Parts: sequence; C-alpha cells; structure tokens
Amino acid sequence: MDRTTYLFKLFFCIFLASSFSISAQPVREKLSLDKGWRFFQGDIPFPKVLGHSMSYHSSKAGAALGPAAINFDDRGWKTVNLPHDWAVENPFDSLENLSQGFRKRGIGWYRRSFRMEESERGKNIELQLDGIATNSTIWVNGHEVGHNWSGYTSIYIDLSSLLLYGDNLNTIAVRVDAEKHEGWWYEGAGIYRHTWLVKRNPLHVITDGIYAHPVKMDNKWVIPAEVTVENRGKNSEQSSVKIDVIHPSGKVVASGKTNISVDALKRSVAKINLEVDKPELWTLENPVLYQVRTRLEASANNISDEVITRCGFRTIEFTSDSGFFLNGKHVKIKGVCNHQDHAGVGVAVPDALWAFRIKRLKDMGANAYRCAHNPPAAEFLDACDSLGLLVMNENRNFNIGEDYIRQLEWMVRRDRNHPSIILWSVFNEEPMQGTENGYEMVRLMTSKVKNLDTTRPVTAAMNGGLFTPINVSQAVDVVGFNYQMGSYDKFHEANPNMKLTSSEDGCGLMTRGEYVTDPTRNIIDQYDSQSAAWGATHREAWKAIHQRPWLAGCFLWTGFDYRGEPTPYVWPSVSTFFGAMDVCGFPKTAFWIHQAQWREDINVLQLVPHWNWPKDSIGKKIKVMCLSNADSVTLYLNKKLIGGQKADYYEMNTWMVPYQPGRLEAFGFKKGKKISHFVVETTGEPASLRLLPDRKTIDNNGWDAMPVTVEALDSKGRHISTANVDITFEIKGSGKIIGHGNGNPNSHEPEKGNRRSLFNGLAQVIVQSEEGGNDPIVLIARSGRLKAGEVVIPVKQVPAVKSIAAEVPNFQLQDWQVSPFSVVKPNPNQNVALNDMNTWTSIKTGVLRQHESSGYFIYRTNFEPYQSQKAEGGVLSIKRLTGKAEVWVNGQLLANKESHTTEDLAIPFPASENVNLNILIEAPEGKKVGLGGVVTVLPKNQK
Ligand code: GAL
Repeated sequence: MDRTTYLFKLFFCIFLASSFSISAQPVREKLSLDKGWRFFQGDIPFPKVLGHSMSYHSSKAGAALGPAAINFDDRGWKTVNLPHDWAVENPFDSLENLSQGFRKRGIGWYRRSFRMEESERGKNIELQLDGIATNSTIWVNGHEVGHNWSGYTSIYIDLSSLLLYGDNLNTIAVRVDAEKHEGWWYEGAGIYRHTWLVKRNPLHVITDGIYAHPVKMDNKWVIPAEVTVENRGKNSEQSSVKIDVIHPSGKVVASGKTNISVDALKRSVAKINLEVDKPELWTLENPVLYQVRTRLEASANNISDEVITRCGFRTIEFTSDSGFFLNGKHVKIKGVCNHQDHAGVGVAVPDALWAFRIKRLKDMGANAYRCAHNPPAAEFLDACDSLGLLVMNENRNFNIGEDYIRQLEWMVRRDRNHPSIILWSVFNEEPMQGTENGYEMVRLMTSKVKNLDTTRPVTAAMNGGLFTPINVSQAVDVVGFNYQMGSYDKFHEANPNMKLTSSEDGCGLMTRGEYVTDPTRNIIDQYDSQSAAWGATHREAWKAIHQRPWLAGCFLWTGFDYRGEPTPYVWPSVSTFFGAMDVCGFPKTAFWIHQAQWREDINVLQLVPHWNWPKDSIGKKIKVMCLSNADSVTLYLNKKLIGGQKADYYEMNTWMVPYQPGRLEAFGFKKGKKISHFVVETTGEPASLRLLPDRKTIDNNGWDAMPVTVEALDSKGRHISTANVDITFEIKGSGKIIGHGNGNPNSHEPEKGNRRSLFNGLAQVIVQSEEGGNDPIVLIARSGRLKAGEVVIPVKQVPAVKSIAAEVPNFQLQDWQVSPFSVVKPNPNQNVALNDMNTWTSIKTGVLRQHESSGYFIYRTNFEPYQSQKAEGGVLSIKRLTGKAEVWVNGQLLANKESHTTEDLAIPFPASENVNLNILIEAPEGKKVGLGGVVTVLPKNQK
C-alpha cells in the first residue's frame, strides 16, 4: 500500500468512526423507569416537626421528611415492576366499596433510586408518570416536584435542575392516595401506567409538542403542523425545524422547513404547512399510518432533537340527517364503551393486552370504542390507530378549575395526532347538564378543546336535561345520548339540525355460560332476556339505533365486563354483568348477537345453550337460540329436523327444543345456498386440560404478555362448556404468570398465584416474558386425575426496552453544614445554638474549599441510622476526603487521617440511635480541602 492510499484509508476510517459516533449518540432518549420500584402498601406518617432548627431546615428546598426524604430506609419494602395495581392483589372484602370491586385501595408509597452519569450534565431531563390511581404527590431528591389530582392524566416534571450526577443517587418518592376515587367503577390503585425518563438537549421539542394531523382542504391534503420548541439552555438559540412525512414504505412524501429563534428559558411555536399528494387513506380495514419526523437542526450535522409521531389521512363528518361518514363513506358507528381493567391484572394492563382486547372487539364487529369515562393509556390509542378502531376519547372531571382545565387540555394535546380519535367527550352524565351553569361550563370547555384541535367535534354524554331551555346539547357539536331511547325521535324532531349519536346504550345483563337466571345465586341467563331498568337488551338497543339513519350509531354498555358495578346484584358479586364479553374477553351470547348484526364480511352462525343438561331435563323444552347473519337457518337434533326459520336480523331465531342428549346442529343459508354450519354436542366428563395461547411467540423483553385460554376436554377431545374444575399451574422457562381470571362475576378466588378454577368451561392465564430470557415458556395446567395440559411458547429475541437501572438504595449523607474558617484548632464537637441558622453554611459533598491562610473547617451532619445500624453500628464510607482530618461520632474520635492527600476512608461506628458526625479538616494555606466524594452510611461489615 503506498503512503497516499494508506493515509486515505486512515482518514476514511477516522471519518467513519467519527460519523458513527455522531449518529450513535442519540439526540433524545426515552428510557423506561418501570423496573425496580420499592413499594409499601399503607401510609407512613411524616415526622412531627418540632423546634426552630427542624422547622427551619425542613422548610428548605430538597428537605422533605419521612418517606419522601432521600435517606428514608425503604430496604424492607417489596420490589415491584410497573405497571402495578395493588388493589387487585388484595382480597375481596364485603366492607370495601362495591363500586371499586370490593377491593381495599387505601394509600401506598413507591420509591426508586437511579444514577445519572457525569456525561449527562447539561441535558434536559424530564420525568414522565403516565398514570397513577388516584391522587399522587411526587418528590425527587427531597423536593416536592408535583402532584396530580387525577388517576387518568399524565404528569411531566422537569428534573434538570434537581438531579445529582456521578456516584450520587437520585431518589423518586411517590405517595399514592387511592382513598380518593374519581369514578363508580374499579379504578385500581398505584402507579398503573408506564414511567419514563426522557433525556433531551437543552433545545428540544416539548412533550406532546407536535401537532401534525392531516386535514383535507379544497381537495388537497395538508398537514398544518405546529411544533413547540423550548430552550432550557443559557443563550438564545436559532434553529431550523424540519418535518418529513414518511410513507410506510420509507419514502419521504412531503418535507417542510422553517427557522425559529428561541430565547433562553422560553418557548416558540414553529408552523409548517405540508402538502401531501394522494396519500393512502387510513381506513378501518387498512389503517395506513405515516410517520412524521420532526427535527431541530442548527446545521445539517447538528441535530438537537428528533421526534417521530404518526398520523393517518382520513376525513370524518357527522351530519344531522345521515349520521357519520369516514372518508366520505357512510359508516354506522358500532361502538362499545369500556373501562380499562382486565382479568388478573386489574388496571395494570400490559401493552400487549390492549391489542388483544381491540382484536376481540373487532372480531365482534365493533368499529368504535368509547373510553369510559377517562383518557386511556397512550399505548391503547396507538393500538387503535394501528388496528383500525374509532375512538371517543373522554375527559374525566367536569370541573372548570385550573387544575382540571389542564387535565382536559392535556388530553387533547397528547392525543390530537391519533387518526382513530373522532370525538372529544367533555363529560358523562353530569347532573348540571340541563342547567345554564352546565351549559356555560361546557361552552368554556369546548372552546378550550377548540383552541387545540378544531378537526374533531366535541360531545357530551347526556342522560337528561335535553329539553330544558338552556342545556348542554346547545354547547356541543354532536349530542351524545345515554339511555334516551324513548327520546331519540322527540329530540330529533325538536332539533332537526343537531348531530346526534348514542354515547351509551344497552346495559343488557348476562353471565357467561349460564342459561337459567337465579337471583339467589346472582346469576343471569345469557339469552339476552334482561337489562338494567334504564337500559334495553342488546337486541332492543341496536334495533332502535339501526332504524334511525340520523343517529350516528351506538356505544354499547359495555364490550367487556369490568370490576365493580355488579348491577343488579350486590355482594358477593364483584364485577359486572353488562359485558358482551366477560373480564377475560370470553364471549357471551351478546358477542354472537352483535357479530351477527354487525359483520357482513364473514358468515356468522352460533347456537346457545350448551347441550349438557342433567338427566331429569330429558324431554323438557330447552330454549335454543341461533345467532346468525344468514337469510334462513335450519335446526336439527340428532339428525332430526327441528325446524327452519327465516333469519331475524333484530331478534335472532329461537326454538323450544325437547331435550335429548346428542348433537344439536344448525345450517345457515343465503340465497338458497348452504353457507354456514354449527354443532353443539353433549360432552362427557372432563378427561384432560388444554392450553391455547393467543399468539405463537412472545417477545423476550419482559414487557410482552399473552393470555392463554384454559379449558377442559372430554375423552373425545371436545370442549366442555360446563366444566368447573380447579386447576393448578406451573410455569417454567423465561416467563411468569402475572394473573388469571375466569369471568365469573361472583368468584372470590385470588387473581394472582398459581391456582384458578374454570368457570363454565374456561379460564385465562396471563403470561409475561422475562427480559432477555432465552428459554421457551412452558405452562402446565393440572387438575386431579385429568391429563395435564401443556403449552410451549417460544420466546422471540427482541431488543430490550431501553431503561434506567434501578439502584439498590443506600444511605448517602448529601447535606452538611460547614463551620466558619478558624485559624486555631477548634473543638470539633462545639455546640451551635439551635436557633442559629447563619453562623455555619450549608454545603453538599463534592465541593472542596480553600482559604488564603492555613487553619481549620468543621464539617457536620446529623443522621438517624437505619434500624440495623442503630442496633449493630455501621460503617461510614467517605470518598475522596482531602486534607488532614479527624472523624468524630457522638463526641468520640473514630479516625485520624494524617496526610493531606485525597483518600477514601471506611470507618466503623458504634450502635447508636442518632449520630452527630463531625469531621475536622485542616486546610493548609491556599490548598483545597473537604469532602470530595459521596459519604455513605453502610451496614456493619461492609466497605
Ligand atoms: C351509566 C353510566 C355508566 C354505568 C352504566 C351502567 O349511567 O354512565 O358509567 O354506570 O350506567 O350502570
């Protein structure tokens, strides 16, 4: 190789290496904090503040006391990973609130420690807590940095000026008050959504700071993007904001750029209009999502921030005479309302379960979802965008106080890029709905929404007040009816120009797998025979909506059962009877009714009930219901024709069939052609168990989770709809069981652990992967002499979710007082008057001091050792102590450092209730001395 080639290659390698290091350094990182929180269920009182010194010091920044203090001893607490709902871990208790599913909620504390590298200094660091049920107060490093008086909104806290770097630990403490409730349904308790730490450059796009939602104007597609940029740096900054719109193929289909200038500690909004030519539309069947890449660049090689959001191109329109249109096509809204809890996990729902639930709803034929009665998890909305489900997003608190307007605005700001969202709902069933006050409140709230998003109508879910002279219907874009079947026509006639939708209807009642109502056992048959007094059966409710073209559609109460509200019963029922599916997502008859009525793309045919009736039922007439979307259906029992019927779209078809064990069989016909077939057979005794995982593999990131269906089979391998056997589970490999359920609203079995019984043939186990695990997950189900069921779930290697490690808490003495400089050697244990806050100075470790002449400083701190150290003593680990020094504990000299150099010391100290620690340091003329590193109180025998 000649010299020129060699030099060229060398420079090329250096260039590659340097460009790699530029691109390897992320401009922003969103790191999970979910792992390794320490949790205590119950409250811990703050110490009583007494005396001037304690009052003075505890009133200062960073000086929170008790469990909020940096050095609180939380080592006895349990370690949990988020999302976490402690209420679901508690037993059912008849003395607890029916609405909250008879579970104790109460108060709890969480703490977590983490470190920040020195290299992170200067970054803008934000703590994000996505959802905490219900009221929370948050401290970081002893500073009370925020509170959130809602369980359904996120809180973002700028930590940049509070964090410590290097060896110092940072501590987050959260007090969760779940005595507070915001609803009349199960709300869970704890930090039940994700938590994050976001690292950004001082010049960055703020959280939820990008609004990039396509609109169609004069036949052109435009994204009128707005980007809010913040400068947390020290100087004013110029930057360009560049946006690229990227098709799923990776092709950039539109770009735009503008310049902004942002003064230090200020925000600026950049506006860019992007035109996109003939985009692929976001539809329910093919929800195409584009990426919007927003960059802040000072120059081409100097990117200070990059954020990717998603968007979908679709139009929505509500009309007063023909309902709702998506992309110009009429779509009857077949919506369902839902709360957010799922079997086994309560409200701590892993992301993968959102997709599972949405798929179940789409399978039923639903095309819309009302988030009753609160904003959902961000990951839920992402899944609705990806899977194609329309959303009515709903505000929780009907309150125009500042804190609550902020909650409403937060919802719109966080969620306004989601193509799935078609409606903002400001309230549900508020008693003020028919008053002028209510009208004024909604008028204000609507305008707050419109300030942030004018592309979606505002609605409110009204269950009354519709006909008063001034009422909320006059302040919204689309009027939502809750249970107003009797008033649909009257209201439409009186207000022909108003756009109308049902926001809540139905309230049909059924218990999965039951066919005989028995109020003594809190059981309701699933023939769609009953509904709440104010509601209608599934079939009645849909008929009323389907027959009125000017009603945009329905929002059935509810898609899934949820905990709490066991209407019409009370204890021992602990969850609802309303769902078309149970809490696990197993279908009830309502599921098949809706599927038959809502889906045209598949042939639906189902028969209920099961065909396992006791011997004394032989000859007695059993009601058989056939759910189908065929033109006609024919029913046979043991090959004997029972009868044929023209299919009834609204009522479905029923026969009274004299019971004989055997084979009940239905055929569906369309245009004279046999198109569907369904069989239900009398099965034998349980012989074996079967496990059916929802998906083929599970990602090994410790986040992915999967429901596994558990069922009993007879000796011929047939599912037994009446089996109720008790099952024990074993799990091996890289996974764990995080909960289970069986859909029985009257079951008091624990939802955690490894035991569950089947309820009418089914149970569900939720399995979660272990981070980095390589071994396939093996789940085994056993019950007495039945053949065990076993399933092997292969784990798929995926990158770990980027996270910040949780540090083992240790006891760092970060806050000290330092004496005035003294030329003569002072008494290191001298008293300072308790009311003297000014003679000595506060100082943190890590800062050295010097004086022009030689002399002495005393460093002093007082601390209460952890319990074990109180009893046994401990070790003081003093890092980077510089200067000659004497270390005194409670008046006793424990160590004498005789050199001026910098050294690490480990000094045992004796058992004591309280420690008064004094370090006398000799400062030679002009030389720096002091506590150069962290001082940690370690357990005895540790160094
Ligand atoms: C409605 C209410 C829902 C639920 C439902 C069933 O009035 O909006 O949250 O309570 O009744 O009882």
